[in-house]
Amino acid sequence: MKKIGILTSGGDCSGMNAAIRSAVRSGLRHNLAMIGFRKGYLGLMKADYITLDSKAVSGILHRGGTFLQSARSPEFRTPEGQQQALANLRKLGVDGLIILGGDGSLTGALALHNLGFPVIGIPASIDNDIPYTDMALGVDTALNNIIYAVDCIKDTASSHARAFVIEVMGRNSGYLASISAIAAGAEYALVPERDFDLSEICQQLRARYEEGRDNAIIILAEGAGNAHQIADSIKDAIGFETRVTVLGHYQRGGAPTVFDRLLASRLGKNAVDLLLEGEKGLMVGLSNNSIITTSLEDVVEGEKKPHDEMLRLAEVLGI
Ligand code: ADP
Ligand code: F6P
Repeated sequence: MKKIGILTSGGDCSGMNAAIRSAVRSGLRHNLAMIGFRKGYLGLMKADYITLDSKAVSGILHRGGTFLQSARSPEFRTPEGQQQALANLRKLGVDGLIILGGDGSLTGALALHNLGFPVIGIPASIDNDIPYTDMALGVDTALNNIIYAVDCIKDTASSHARAFVIEVMGRNSGYLASISAIAAGAEYALVPERDFDLSEICQQLRARYEEGRDNAIIILAEGAGNAHQIADSIKDAIGFETRVTVLGHYQRGGAPTVFDRLLASRLGKNAVDLLLEGEKGLMVGLSNNSIITTSLEDVVEGEKKPHDEMLRLAEVLGI
């Protein structure tokens, strides 16, 4: 192993830079040449890369996003795109590739592995929907961003006796919604994994309202419903003044938390160590605070265990 490439793909998240830095510094320690492809699989298909020396990764640990940039590149899903990427890797003399991203990006990593190229995946997605890791990179930072915003909104909700529907990210995953509902003391977490009865919610909110609890926070995962429709239903049923806040991409950025910096540093170094040991086709993850590896095949075919305990806790503490 003489040269390792690294790329960040799919939705960006805080901690990607810290992981790149860790992989680069670990690789340099073993006298490896390190290069970074720009804009995920797009850079791989276009052979658009930069050399990563120690200085190139200085001053990025604390920055959100990814300085290599990320992209969604549909061309890489095609056999032609993958062959182009493979040809570039061979031409550049790259011996192993580290791929950071969500479930789509890790599916792309498996495709390269199946073509015989050594890859190691690092789970990075604020949705925390990747199996075989307790936490993906960026989740903890996103949660802290959400909590900061919800705390602020709670202040104004109580001043004006309003109910707020706060939409958080998660097309298919309610992890951010349920954890932030617990940590911010929201009345409800509405998630795509579980059906909810809006009229029952309205009845419960009305009962609280009549008791004198005149403000409420409902955290909605984006994939669970329409925030404006839910707010309108609450307004119609109770007469509660309602507002909607969509937190959007604010959640994905910002300085990574200590948890994400540490996780990124551990995963980046482990990815390089694995390639040096001749391992391939694996994802590095976190389980019970230890670094574990799982085949990319199992990751791609697997399903994240539902976070039932957290959903139940949010429910018990909410109303
Ligand atoms: P994420 O990695 O955050 O889940 P996407 O699902 O958009 O984001 O995937 C990121 C990129 O990974 C895609 O733009 C594509 O280049 C690649 N990718 C996704 N799915 C596949 C697939 N089935 N086969 C090959 N590449 C894929
Ligand atoms: O990375 C996953 C995610 O954060 C989803 O929760 C969200 O729906 C999506 O990315 C939005 O990403 P973009 O606007 O970059 O396509």
